[in-house]
Amino acid sequence: MTITSVVGLQWGDEAKGKIVDLLTDEHQVVVRYQGGNNAGHTVKFDGKTYKLSLLPTGVLRPGVTAIIGNGVVVNPEALQKEIDTLRAQGVDISTNLLLSDRAHVILPYHVAEDGASERSYKKDAIGTTGRGIGFCYRDKAGRSQAVRVGDLYHPASLEQRLDGIVKSKNHVLSALDPEFQPFASSDIFALTQKYATALKPYVTDTVAWLHRAIKEKRNILFEGAQGSLLDVDHGTYPYVTSSNSSSAGIHPGSGVPERLIDEMIGVVKAYTTRVGGGPFPTELDNEIGQHIRDVGHEYGTVTGRPRRCGWFDAVAAGHGAKICGVDCISLMLLDVLSQLDELKICEAYEIGGERTTDFPAHVEDLANAKPIYRTIPGWKTDICGVTRLADLPAGARKYIDTIGELMEKPVKIVSVGPDRAQTILG
Ligand code: GDP
Ligand code: IMO
Ligand code: MG
Repeated sequence: MTITSVVGLQWGDEAKGKIVDLLTDEHQVVVRYQGGNNAGHTVKFDGKTYKLSLLPTGVLRPGVTAIIGNGVVVNPEALQKEIDTLRAQGVDISTNLLLSDRAHVILPYHVAEDGASERSYKKDAIGTTGRGIGFCYRDKAGRSQAVRVGDLYHPASLEQRLDGIVKSKNHVLSALDPEFQPFASSDIFALTQKYATALKPYVTDTVAWLHRAIKEKRNILFEGAQGSLLDVDHGTYPYVTSSNSSSAGIHPGSGVPERLIDEMIGVVKAYTTRVGGGPFPTELDNEIGQHIRDVGHEYGTVTGRPRRCGWFDAVAAGHGAKICGVDCISLMLLDVLSQLDELKICEAYEIGGERTTDFPAHVEDLANAKPIYRTIPGWKTDICGVTRLADLPAGARKYIDTIGELMEKPVKIVSVGPDRAQTILG
């Protein structure tokens, strides 16, 4: 039995989807444990492109059981749409998807709250994906207004509770937005009952299911969404998502103790990107940043927003690696950096005249951090077809070694293109 975890070490979009898809080959079960349809993963193989958001990337492999764990927040509408899109592409997930009865449900008022809140904060907005993620997690922590998947199957008590919940939501939303059209609790209740029917084939106690799978010694893969620097506890708070998007989310979000994990793989891009607000010390607001955005197609899968681009930051990614306790690194999109004259890697920050490799807790300190760079000569050859580390140009090998040295972890996988086949296993 092998239990593996794949987790992003930066601000998301590290190409986790590609690695999860690749590793699913050796696993029978793939588990999402946090986040929701704020995630967006693009996976390419056999000339086809698949876009996944709420569904675990493992669904693309026939015979693999894909689990949406209890820590995920589920928008049933978005889930149904994704299932239909995949079916149209020839992927039928009807027999291999399981949804936790403990997962929380995103309802239309969560999306409205997200939008109204972001609009009201204007320049101080977090820059969320607008999917209602934070407001669903807020209700989860608050308890009295939360709706879990299991509640959909207890209609009498749900109908009664929704009355009070919707009244309270309408009250807050009207205060935030004078144009707001109140929700009718009968409409929301009717929606929940539609969802109850649509989700029924997938709903189960995934915690009990996973523990049976462990007993049967099946290989399990945990698929992180977002990245460690967006973790609500360990990321660049408050410019984070509302879940533990580092490996800290695995146990609470699945019911599987982290000590059972055999290998923790940290995924990093060969540079850094960020979508939404918040400090970004190595950001390149210049033509190099634009070059990386163009070559790497750095536009959000979920919202289409241009991703902010910058040099690789070993302090930030190193923080992610420590929090997650990774065993090794998977270095992605290295090919995007070909053609640059020279490359920079941030090895430390200068904050208030002091050099540090600690990642600051406060966003204002991070905003004041001046990156201290190591410069590495570029390589001007196309590496998209390279399949062995030894065949990479010297500059690229030096770049990989420097990242491994600064992060104090071995680089075991290098990706040189979006396709499954464009992967170098070290
Ligand atoms: P995720 O959210 O971490 O799964 O990452 P995304 O899918 O949002 O973003 C990664 C993007 O990079 C996707 O469009 C992938 O198809 C693409 N990609 C993955 N690996 C590589 C690579 O090695 N090189 C290039 N050029 N693109 C890649
Ligand atoms: P994947 O899984 C990149 C960012 C948003 C925003 C912040 C909070 O594709 O790596 P939220 O809607 O979660 O309340 O927004 O988090 N964000 C992501 N950035 N990749 C993601 O997912 C993200 N999911 C959320 O842009 O800054
Ligand atoms: Mg993404």
